[in-house]
Amino acid sequence: MSYYVTTPIYYVNAEPHLGHAYSTMAADVLARHMRQRGEDVFFLTGTDEHGEPIENAAEREGVTPQELADRNAAKFEELLPIIDVTNDFFIRTSDPRHAEKVAEIMQRVYDNGWVTKGTYEGWYCPRCADFKTERELGPGNTCPIHEIALEQEREENWFFRLSAFQERLEKLYEERPDFVIPEVRRNEAVAFIKGGLEDVSLSRPKLKWGMPLPWDSDQRMYVWFDALLNYVTALGFAREGEDLTERYWPADMHLMAKEILKFHAVIWPALLWAADLEPPKRMAIHGFLLMGEKKMSKSLGNVLDPFEVIDRFGSDALRFYCFREVSFGQDGSISTAGFESRYETELANDFGNLASRVLAMVDRYRAGVVPKAAIDAVLEEDFEGVVERFSELLDRAELTQALEEAWKLVRRLNRYVEETKPWELAKDEADPERLDEVLYNLAEGLRVTTLLLVPYLPRSADQLLGALGEESRALAELGSHPGGQKVERVPPLFPKIEPPA
Ligand code: MSP
Repeated sequence: MSYYVTTPIYYVNAEPHLGHAYSTMAADVLARHMRQRGEDVFFLTGTDEHGEPIENAAEREGVTPQELADRNAAKFEELLPIIDVTNDFFIRTSDPRHAEKVAEIMQRVYDNGWVTKGTYEGWYCPRCADFKTERELGPGNTCPIHEIALEQEREENWFFRLSAFQERLEKLYEERPDFVIPEVRRNEAVAFIKGGLEDVSLSRPKLKWGMPLPWDSDQRMYVWFDALLNYVTALGFAREGEDLTERYWPADMHLMAKEILKFHAVIWPALLWAADLEPPKRMAIHGFLLMGEKKMSKSLGNVLDPFEVIDRFGSDALRFYCFREVSFGQDGSISTAGFESRYETELANDFGNLASRVLAMVDRYRAGVVPKAAIDAVLEEDFEGVVERFSELLDRAELTQALEEAWKLVRRLNRYVEETKPWELAKDEADPERLDEVLYNLAEGLRVTTLLLVPYLPRSADQLLGALGEESRALAELGSHPGGQKVERVPPLFPKIEPPA
């Protein structure tokens, strides 16, 4: 089966920060996991390069919007291998191939009669590139996200006839209760729809840095239309000479944080219908990474630089920490102190030490060959059905809960070591079969657990699976390997971290 997963495409008005890396890493966890399940995965990320935020930022810096876009898009792209992200394509909306597809699709929307002309008057946030409804205003007509004063705008616009899709959207949400997850976000989308949909502005006469409307070159397309369409257009040109649309559309999973819910959960399905395309299968909405009490954001000046964090802790630790510390779907604070503590107690002690001990004991007591033995009944129950449980959680993008399922096994295996005390069994070899059994169960438990952890800890899991003599990355149940394989010791997976210079 195909599995198409996307991240939001990020604005290039500034460099990437950890908040952007967070969504991209989350999508990567899903992509890697689905590949382990043998799915035909396509994973898209990229940059959103048009619109006022970029135009304004470029002006402030005295460069052209394209120059700014080129510079910052490169930073977003450079970050990907550093956080071990395995995207299949990186889309940039200033790519002429994207523009060509957008023009084609929007012309279809126009031809189908879903566009009208009108006057727009209202509060506009230049940072969100979004008109705010009365319900969305912060105190004193400010933007609740950027905490800046909004501008009162009045202009001649083309409108997308969103209001015409009211009933169809209501029906979509009734028929597909998990179209938007988690439920609180679904309810938010439904409430927004039920509140009564108004037509949305599709173009802006004052905007310079945007795509011209195919039917009216005096107006530039409002950036959100050009941006949302990336999920479809990319499939048309990601592979030279091949159109992947049939193979991957509709998308299986759009990932994003909650501030762009309305665009994806309300406007996007309607726009797709207007263009004779199917809406995506599902979208999962996550919360914000906070520093202190506030959303990490460049404009608030409280960002953690992912490049620096990785220099100190490594990318596995970053991925692990983000999904472990902050319950995926909710807002949560992160801090350097938090990184350090989870790194030491969970990665270095719980997991790293377990791995070193198991490999060392098999090496010392059985010359590096995992004995062939049976599953110990005391472990059976804890491992029973774990692949299914874990997979179901990730189908619903429950990244934190899935990680906890795997971590329960890490803790269980540590207890098993303490309970069975293999070093005592090895002292007098009165019962060599029991030592065989314990070592087999430890190696097998570690193999099964590490396979689950591949998407979260791709580097160390790969290294450890190599040391355990496992070549396949397919998920496995306890006992599916008979033993008999050769293992090797590895240097500590999570060595002590040096304090910053
Ligand atoms: N360009 C639009 C999205 C268009 S998608 C068709 C946009 N760009 S953005 O650069 O502002 O990125 C927003 C997304 O970045 C969020 O939805 C989220 O995925 C991620 N995050 C940015 N800051 C974040 C946090 N502090 N915490 C969690 N995610 C964050 O909106």
